[in-house]
Amino acid sequence: VSEKFISPARRVQGELHLPGDKSISHRAAILGLLAEGQTRIYHFLTADDCLNTAKACQQLGAKVEIKGDVLNLAGCGWVGLRPPKDVIDCGNSGTGVRLLAGVLAGQKFESVITGDEQVQRRPMRRIIDPLLAMGAEITSEPGGLCPLRIRGGNLSSLNYLSPVASAQVKSCLLLAGLYAKGRTLVTEPSSSRDHTERLMRYFGIPIRTEGLTISVEGGVLPQGREITVPADISSAAFFLVAAALLPGSDLRLFNVGVNRTRTGILEVLRVMEADIAEDNPRTQAGEPVADLAVKHKAPIKGAQIRGRKLIPRLIDELPILAVAAAGAEGETVIAEAGELRVKETDRITMMVKELKNIGVAIEERPDGMAIRGGKIKGGRADSHGDHRLAMSLAVAGLVSENGVTLNNPDCVRTSYPNFWDQLQEVTA
Ligand code: S3P
Repeated sequence: VSEKFISPARRVQGELHLPGDKSISHRAAILGLLAEGQTRIYHFLTADDCLNTAKACQQLGAKVEIKGDVLNLAGCGWVGLRPPKDVIDCGNSGTGVRLLAGVLAGQKFESVITGDEQVQRRPMRRIIDPLLAMGAEITSEPGGLCPLRIRGGNLSSLNYLSPVASAQVKSCLLLAGLYAKGRTLVTEPSSSRDHTERLMRYFGIPIRTEGLTISVEGGVLPQGREITVPADISSAAFFLVAAALLPGSDLRLFNVGVNRTRTGILEVLRVMEADIAEDNPRTQAGEPVADLAVKHKAPIKGAQIRGRKLIPRLIDELPILAVAAAGAEGETVIAEAGELRVKETDRITMMVKELKNIGVAIEERPDGMAIRGGKIKGGRADSHGDHRLAMSLAVAGLVSENGVTLNNPDCVRTSYPNFWDQLQEVTA
């Protein structure tokens, strides 16, 4: 396990083309697998998580070819999938496991799907129960954990009231719904990211959205497409916060996905009085994108980050928002964010522990944390092998007084392989 020293930076400055959106890359590959004909995905995220999904598509019978960041898939058509010879290993990706489990539930053959130690601790009951209700046979480790052994086929449709606002649960069931007789409906307590719905439509599958209920009719064959994946707003978040905290910063990020179900980070940073502009708004493969320009004008302020509607729209950005809060003026409270405990790591406990280690006044709450802003001293911190913790703690290092020595920095590979290079580029 290596370590990395992140020295304090004066400012961040320049222009960046960030890697492709993780959520959209997974979905584009999976729909390409199920589609009839050729799918070409430009600006595919070639990070471990999505590469594992591409490999799974290959194991299930798609012809997959990657050149740079372009992924070409010759789809199987959803009835043409082949039984995989080996276990499907999604590595660190909960999205990979949960979405592909929806596809596997539609197959008459048996398959086994799993991931790394972090994934093997993540709750799968949330997809197992509704997939069982649709008629799939699934066995898991005690407690509903991976590996999952799945045999499906002959699914019946389902009208499911999901207890969590989870795009992974919703997407899993919509994918399984393609194989079900009749219409499958999923209702969420509040809206989660809607990339699956948008992409299914783009691939020619009619999806109905009525309030919080999303539904799909079984039996429609998606058509292969060309798509360009926008840059990932969850990756942009690290640079937005760095620029919002460091005086003199001036940064432009091109072609970033600004889907409303993902832009909670922009809203909260603006409430904190950060200066972020969205230029050149346009639509790309059914997804809104814009160039983001962020400038440091004045110190940012603490905020209340809570609400059933808001939290799902920024769930992956809460670790970096904790860093923003640590460097802001005044108090910040993050609440109603218990879901953070079942991500790659328990991101409440881990963020509180690591920020405390580097001198932040922070307190753990059952459903979030409270942070008193001020100066961040620096010191040693650990990523716990969680990519978003690694990048958040790196930004804490940039804005700290003495720098941060980060243990296990390489896990950024999961979602953002060139993070350290791009960080170097804008701080040099
Ligand atoms: C994702 C959904 C979210 C998010 C994850 C990616 C997706 O998880 O945290 O990083 O691509 O569908 P949940 O669906 O579990 O909330």
